[in-house]
Amino acid sequence: MSDTPKINSGKPHPARVYDYWLGGKNHYLADAEAGDAIARIWPSVHQGAQHNRAFMHRATRYLVAEAGVRQFLDIGTGIPTEPNLHQVAQDVDPRCRVVYVDNDPIVLVYASALLRSTPEGRLSYVQVDATDPEAILAAPELADTLDLTRPVALSLIALLHLISDERGAGDMVRRLVDALPSGSYLMLTHATADLNPQLMARVAAAYEQRGAASGGQLRTREEILRFFDGLELVDPGLVVTSRWRPDDSQRLPEITDPEMSAYAGVARKP
Ligand SMILES: C[S@@+](CC[C@H](N)C(=O)[O-])C[C@H]1O[C@@H](n2cnc3c(N)ncnc32)[C@H](O)[C@@H]1O
Repeated sequence: MSDTPKINSGKPHPARVYDYWLGGKNHYLADAEAGDAIARIWPSVHQGAQHNRAFMHRATRYLVAEAGVRQFLDIGTGIPTEPNLHQVAQDVDPRCRVVYVDNDPIVLVYASALLRSTPEGRLSYVQVDATDPEAILAAPELADTLDLTRPVALSLIALLHLISDERGAGDMVRRLVDALPSGSYLMLTHATADLNPQLMARVAAAYEQRGAASGGQLRTREEILRFFDGLELVDPGLVVTSRWRPDDSQRLPEITDPEMSAYAGVARKP
């Protein structure tokens, strides 16, 4: 197997389609076309992407400032978009450490250029598939960056709807949570068809048709709750992403629950 990143610019990829929706510059024509096709069906998808990022910022600040977490394992990182998770965390405490994981070679290319740590903190990037949790846990970068005897926040933001049950989403989450000590956290966001079934059926079909996210699965709130088995959800529980501890620090577009069509939650490992 070659170590050289292979980038297929002719086929849309979730990281680059998402970069397009966020107004980034790191995508190809195929990604923009797929992004536009989905946005024609789901016009609020751009706003939804901003709310998804904003949840990541709020949850990260909560975990560092209120829950005392200083280490993060962020899987499905995406193309860097400022502020990145480590910038939010290190803004509260510059000693925070973050391991980023993604399977898209383009994320690797941008990550190495853009992810710069504070001197007191530490960052690393691992290119591996999330469906192989053993490879994540065995990565030397992880051992160099995180102390697994101390609490870690496992961050799975807008990742799990890209991984079906058949591909092992549940086992992956369980294996990773099992590897973390008591006092660790899981934070996630996940798209759902609960709030607008007809719309999301069309969105899923558009994704599949364009090959932008084959192997994914929209889940119901009950199904998403299962990822938190054995963990204690912090207030307000698993809620529509824009409703998780909204604050005045962020200027965000208005969005209704059916327009958002995603849930977010944070939970503590007892
Ligand atoms: C929608 S983006 C979310 C990016 C970021 N977490 C956020 O919410 O802003 C999903 C990311 O998950 C990555 N991804 C999808 N499937 C993956 C897999 N099996 N293993 C690792 N990363 C994956 C994609 O490459 C992409 O960067």
